[in-house]
Amino acid sequence: MNDEEKQDDKELDEALKNAIKEAEEAENSRILYEAKMRFLGRMGIVMNFMKRMKDIPPEKRPSFGKQINALRDKLEAEFAAREERLKKREMQKKIETEKIDVTMPGKRTAKGALHPVTLVKNQLVDIFAGMGFEIFEGPEIETDYYNFTALNTPADHPARDMQDTFYISDNLLLRTQTSAAQIRAMEKKKPPIKMLSPGRVFRSDDDATHSPMFHQMEGLVVDRGITMCDLKGMLDEFARTMFSGNSKTRLRPSYFPFTEPSVEVDVSCSACGGKGCSLCKGTGWIEVLGAGIVNRRVLENCGIDADEYSGFAFGMGVERIAMLKYGINNIKLLTENDTRFLGQFKEEN
Ligand code: DAH
Repeated sequence: MNDEEKQDDKELDEALKNAIKEAEEAENSRILYEAKMRFLGRMGIVMNFMKRMKDIPPEKRPSFGKQINALRDKLEAEFAAREERLKKREMQKKIETEKIDVTMPGKRTAKGALHPVTLVKNQLVDIFAGMGFEIFEGPEIETDYYNFTALNTPADHPARDMQDTFYISDNLLLRTQTSAAQIRAMEKKKPPIKMLSPGRVFRSDDDATHSPMFHQMEGLVVDRGITMCDLKGMLDEFARTMFSGNSKTRLRPSYFPFTEPSVEVDVSCSACGGKGCSLCKGTGWIEVLGAGIVNRRVLENCGIDADEYSGFAFGMGVERIAMLKYGINNIKLLTENDTRFLGQFKEEN
């Protein structure tokens, strides 16, 4: 063995020793992998030895090649063994630290609940669907025609002052009442009509019982021979299902441009059974909705023969019903999204 060969031998030996040392010292799989790449990677030390092959006299090449191959095999075995040990250790550590105590009480995940307005809306839809009403939804952005004019409220009509309107342009507005959907329903369908239209409405109005956005539920029945008696019978049924089994309703004369006659509907106070309490302000009655016999002009505006057909309509505020039903005294509670408040309305199921 000449000096040069001895030098090569020494270097190979050294590489082996260093590699073994680095493998031993690697604390985790990542460090080990980096070390392995330094020795066995494409730019690694073993590769560098290979590259030297071309400078070695041809007759020496086989033995030098064998030495490098032997070194590579040893390193591979070394790193593989170390990797195995590290993996075992890491797994062991995991098993020791990630103990599962099956006696620990479970963590409860909070369960969501329907918003009280949604609850009431669903109940109303159930009640009226049970009486054969079909859902018919109209757009929230309406034209002046559907929201007012077709409902017998032309431009200079004083009843426009009953509702403070958000206008988008001269002709477009945010609907102030779901009554607008009545017109769309009557334009689309021929009598008999029995439709229910829930949805959002908007008014420039804001205090403890009014909010600029709220929900209404509109009902419309058009057929031959519809009278106030049909309205009253349906309202009684609604009050009994929505409030309590012995709820009663009473009608008081009122005015709406789209109904004639028009009525305000009161339900007997379910808190005191009609005796008089703070909720009903001592009267025993609570106002819940507006209704009436559809004004023949409205039927005519929709191309329905008012001599042949008649109808009744009603409209109620969903928030108002929710407030009455659950004893909520401020409408803002319904839009503040305080989960402590909303969590009280979980339905048992
Ligand atoms: N649209 C009325 C309002 O917002 C409520 C109403 C009253 C609707 C009488 C009706 C009705 O259909 O017949 O105040």
